[in-house]
Amino acid sequence: MGELNHIAIIMDGNGRWAKNRNLPRTYGHAEGAKKVSDVLQWAKKYGIKYLTLYAFSTENWKRPDEEVSALMKLLKKFLTEKTIELIENDICLKIAGRVDELSCELQALIQDSIKKTADNKSGTLVIALNYGGRAELTDAVKKIAEKVQDKKLNIQSITEETLSQNLYNPEIPDPELLIRTGGELRISNFLLWEIAYTEFYITDTLWPDFDEATFRDAINSFGKRERRKGGLL
Ligand code: FPP
Repeated sequence: MGELNHIAIIMDGNGRWAKNRNLPRTYGHAEGAKKVSDVLQWAKKYGIKYLTLYAFSTENWKRPDEEVSALMKLLKKFLTEKTIELIENDICLKIAGRVDELSCELQALIQDSIKKTADNKSGTLVIALNYGGRAELTDAVKKIAEKVQDKKLNIQSITEETLSQNLYNPEIPDPELLIRTGGELRISNFLLWEIAYTEFYITDTLWPDFDEATFRDAINSFGKRERRKGGLL
């Protein structure tokens, strides 16, 4: 089995979880947010160094206002209450997404948490927030174009590596495994560039019901895959 260092997760199914209980969708998100600490513990237990969680997409702004504000509130709560947990567990926090479009309050909490956890080495949590794979690629192209315009880069010297180096978190290796809960078979504009060779594990389990057994199952299933990356062996 190849090495497994980075798992990315599409945390889908909060709305359905709530609907099954006749609760508002926002309850499902709150229950889903509680799961994040558990997943961090499991990642540590199974030696996963990087975890990327899709918390809010560039498309999620289209949801009803009250759902968007409930999600923003949960993110603020997470940053306020969990930064200490990240410090205690030696986990470094990073954000992937268009942070400058978020509220000033949320941006300040993000900067504070990033600063306080910057030197942590045992693991990295990336929260994809106001994230879109196409937005990330668009932003990378803009950065590259600026460098060309400023004569800091020749067009001829642009390689795949140049693109990778201009993504939101260039120092983070691509995920080897992507887990999607909630059973849908689509990528939903997540990590388009980074998942070129990523293995997928899709489970019908709704995100608030996600448990250690399912997480372990995803890791075991990864262990059984033959990863050829386009080659023969
Ligand atoms: C998809 O479920 C989930 C989201 C759009 C938000 C995910 C956010 C959280 C789990 C909480 C906040 C995260 C952190 C890191 C604190 P859905 O609403 O699309 O579910 P459905 O497909 O059943 O409708």
